Amino acid sequence: MIIAIDGPAASGKGTLGKRLAAHYGLRHLDTGLLYRGVAHVLLSAGHPADDRVRAAAAAAALDPGRLDEDALKTQAAGEGASIVSAFPEVRAALLDVQRRFAAAPPGAVLDGRDIGTVICPDADVKIFVTASAEERARRRFLEFRARGLAVTEAEVLDDIRRRDARDTGRAVAPLRPAADARLLDTTALDVEASVAAAIALVEAARR
Ligand code: DC
Repeated sequence: MIIAIDGPAASGKGTLGKRLAAHYGLRHLDTGLLYRGVAHVLLSAGHPADDRVRAAAAAAALDPGRLDEDALKTQAAGEGASIVSAFPEVRAALLDVQRRFAAAPPGAVLDGRDIGTVICPDADVKIFVTASAEERARRRFLEFRARGLAVTEAEVLDDIRRRDARDTGRAVAPLRPAADARLLDTTALDVEASVAAAIALVEAARR
């Protein structure tokens, strides 16, 4: 079974992906980490994220087995990822690794922006997760604060709005629900209620 989860920044895709994978005994890939990994290579070497040639080379050389979540789950890496991910060469270089991951037994949950539309158009279940920008900013802010990162909620909201605009407005693989995706709005749901709702959607899709 392949489960595709897409949605905007901080919608809860990652948590849902992890929980669904555990529930169904599948492997899980947070595909945002790949784009964050590419951005991190550039930023940590002092290059801007919009250096297209370097971004393409970093994507081609990326070792997905060696991604350090702590270094990648920062606001700078997220913003950089949103920039490098608009380059078609970067997306092309990361396509195979994602498809191979999805195809290997016993199946997988992948979360990102274009899983249901581009990476796994034949996924058994497609879920498009949304939540209001304010609620997503609140969650991301609490997460950053718990990790001791110095940001304000207003900065996080600004960042989320900028990323939404970039991720939905780009020419290649823009963020949008697949025609056959099931929508899940988590604005008013806590983690447990979101997981229960997602499992119900998977069950409905398998029937
Ligand atoms: O889900 P995230 O916040 O870790 O993603 C970071 C950025 O990476 C996001 O703003 C856009 C890009 N991305 C993408 O273009 N396609 C994906 N499948 C996953 C992420």
